[in-house]
Amino acid sequence: ALAAEASSSSLGFKELSHQLAERDAVPEGYEIQTVIRWGDPVLPDAPAFAPRSQSAAAQAAQFGYNNDYVDFFPLPRGSRNADHGLLAVNHEYADTQLMFPDMGEDETARLKSTPEQARIEMAAHGMSVVEIRRENGRWAPVKAARLNRRITAETPIRISGPAAGHDRLKTGADPSGRLALGTLNNCAGGNTPWGTVITCEENFNQYFGGAAAKSGAQAAMYKRYGIVEQASYSWPRHVDRFNLDKEPNEPNRFGWVVEFDPYDPQSQPVKRTALGRFKHEGCTHAVSADGRVVFYMGDDERFDYVYKFVTARPWNPQDSAANRDLLDDGTLYVARFHEDGRMEWLPLVHGQGPLTAANGFISQADVLIETRRAADLLKATPMDRPEDVQANPLNGHVYAMLTNNSRRKPEQVDRANPRPANKHGHIVEMIPPGAGTDKVDHAATEGRWEIFLVAGRPGVDPGASYHQGTSAEGWLSCPDNCTFDSKGRIWIATDGAQNTSEVADGLYAADTDGQGRALTRLFYQAPTGAEVCGPCFTPDDETVFLAIQHPGDDKGSSFANPSTRWPDFDPAMPPRPSIIAIVKRGGGKIGA
Ligand code: FEO
Ligand code: CA
Ligand code: CA
Ligand code: CA
Repeated sequence: ALAAEASSSSLGFKELSHQLAERDAVPEGYEIQTVIRWGDPVLPDAPAFAPRSQSAAAQAAQFGYNNDYVDFFPLPRGSRNADHGLLAVNHEYADTQLMFPDMGEDETARLKSTPEQARIEMAAHGMSVVEIRRENGRWAPVKAARLNRRITAETPIRISGPAAGHDRLKTGADPSGRLALGTLNNCAGGNTPWGTVITCEENFNQYFGGAAAKSGAQAAMYKRYGIVEQASYSWPRHVDRFNLDKEPNEPNRFGWVVEFDPYDPQSQPVKRTALGRFKHEGCTHAVSADGRVVFYMGDDERFDYVYKFVTARPWNPQDSAANRDLLDDGTLYVARFHEDGRMEWLPLVHGQGPLTAANGFISQADVLIETRRAADLLKATPMDRPEDVQANPLNGHVYAMLTNNSRRKPEQVDRANPRPANKHGHIVEMIPPGAGTDKVDHAATEGRWEIFLVAGRPGVDPGASYHQGTSAEGWLSCPDNCTFDSKGRIWIATDGAQNTSEVADGLYAADTDGQGRALTRLFYQAPTGAEVCGPCFTPDDETVFLAIQHPGDDKGSSFANPSTRWPDFDPAMPPRPSIIAIVKRGGGKIGA
């Protein structure tokens, strides 16, 4: 019976077996190509990668550390070329113990970095834009590409929208409150119909520290965002703006969504405050029936919320200038999931409901700077760590990856978060009015929802629930990122399976409709210590790009003695976070 049910999936690849290994794996008939690695040149003047004698200047011209969001922007602009384009990639954070020789073996190494190492870490954060091309079936960066760029923790970034220029965004270096330096902890992301990158600042709290976290005027706000006295990095010791006691407002300039034009390396990135301040995992769009653009977002924290932003005006496909500041004007909503399968989107608008001066919200800027507190007052539904939230372009259903929440107590269980001590996570499917037609009302303030799957090993982990034909290899743990191929099938990347289940993270595919709904199958198995991010298809579905983040980040693993030397397996090289392309040998659509 199992085999008969498995064949109800539309996916044609032979699935992998779960394992944990130094090397990664794809199904028979597929191949893995490494496109670009940490330390590879991005800017024309970049020196060759020398991990034992790294400098901040070299790192600022090379591909950064770690990589989460990956997106493909075809060249020329506006085309659907699947052989030539720009890869936009986030560099989320630094694993100091794997980046530098002699740093010890655990994450507290970050606290020991020297001033120069801190500058290298800052240069390893941010983003890369890299021109790539497929020739004779192989993907490779274009040499000395003019459109390449690096964005780091020191790149000037404009602040726009309702909170720009607010007193709480002003610092000694920027009395205008309108120009930040850098973008930090950029996790997943998205794009816009007008062809810009959307990148999201997630765990920005980790970089700041100081006594003001306990005793300062903004201590309650810091606490709600997880900003504590002891930073996770050495930066507050070496760079004044990360020290809360010197610049108490600097963290208010992080936690935003950032937009920039990948096709113009001179374009200045912009922090769009209208989309709220929280630990933004990602931000993906769907065009609503009336042409307004809706951006779905998760706040990745235990018991935090699912959000969406609806632009005030439709986007204009004819006039790109008309879309330039579309993200400065619109309505931010937070989700409430009802037990009966209905849902509401609650507006975060100053003056409405509890969002008034009586609760400390003097203006919309206050609502946005303290988005989390505003959403608390609206009684949004506390979720099990919302990661990617993304619409299926085929039917308009919207999927929220809820990665896990080991702290949910039995009395806190509800239908949308159905399991206590939820270590494997689950996926909620939201159904806006008009879903399944060509007029999906993504802007609506009401909708329906259901559970797509509950992760973990079926029959072993309590509550795990998939299609009944899911095989012993097809179950997953800790869904994090997702995308859809052009047949509307969901591809789910995981982060944390090694901790919960002692199997590698991976990429899984499933139908969303029909006989194979929620029948997940394992397509890619990551090297040990890594999570799988991205995923991103070329417009022809013949390549899927994955960001393989923190390979070798295992207990006891260090630069000198790593658990894997993926992807080079060169004794002279540490493990290197990289972007890979998976293609079918001889060509053809992925998953077919
Ligand atoms: Fe950077 Fe929510 O993972
Ligand atoms: Ca993530
Ligand atoms: Ca995650
Ligand atoms: Ca992650």
